[in-house]
Amino acid sequence: EFSSMSTIERTLSIIKPDAVAKNVIGQIVSRFEQAGLKVVAARLTQLSRAEAERFYAVHSARPFFKDLVDFMISGPVFVQVLEGENAILKNRDLMGATDPKKAEKGTIRADFADSIDANAVHGSDAPETAAVEVAFFFPQIDVHGR
Ligand code: TYD
Repeated sequence: EFSSMSTIERTLSIIKPDAVAKNVIGQIVSRFEQAGLKVVAARLTQLSRAEAERFYAVHSARPFFKDLVDFMISGPVFVQVLEGENAILKNRDLMGATDPKKAEKGTIRADFADSIDANAVHGSDAPETAAVEVAFFFPQIDVHGR
């Protein structure tokens, strides 16, 4: 609708096996909450190899694909749907750069990630991927919050 100026979005966040193993789920979720993002769905889950390959299918031709899948199934992950004003970009800003060595100070990856492959968090990078990724883990959730 033309008059709607709302930019409330929903996005998928994954706290990856390295961060779950470090026992920092709460610290990471706190950062989302302090930034005004609301957790509207969440669960701890263990990905199968097939699920991880399907989730990261866009990277299937990349040299790091096998290691990425091995890493993502190495332990439980904490998947969440975050909601808020500009949630997709806000989450990406909170995460920091893919490579923690390049991540800005105070970002989740700067503070909790060890390497470019074990980098603590995933976040949808655009409205189209948010829709696909939220549906992947939470088929009952409407990405548009209706
Ligand atoms: P990408 O979508 O480029 O980054 P982001 O997670 O910041 O959206 O890559 C997806 C994941 O693939 C990334 O989080 C970790 C892994 N990866 C590597 O292991 N090595 C690499 O060189 C790249 C680019 C990514």
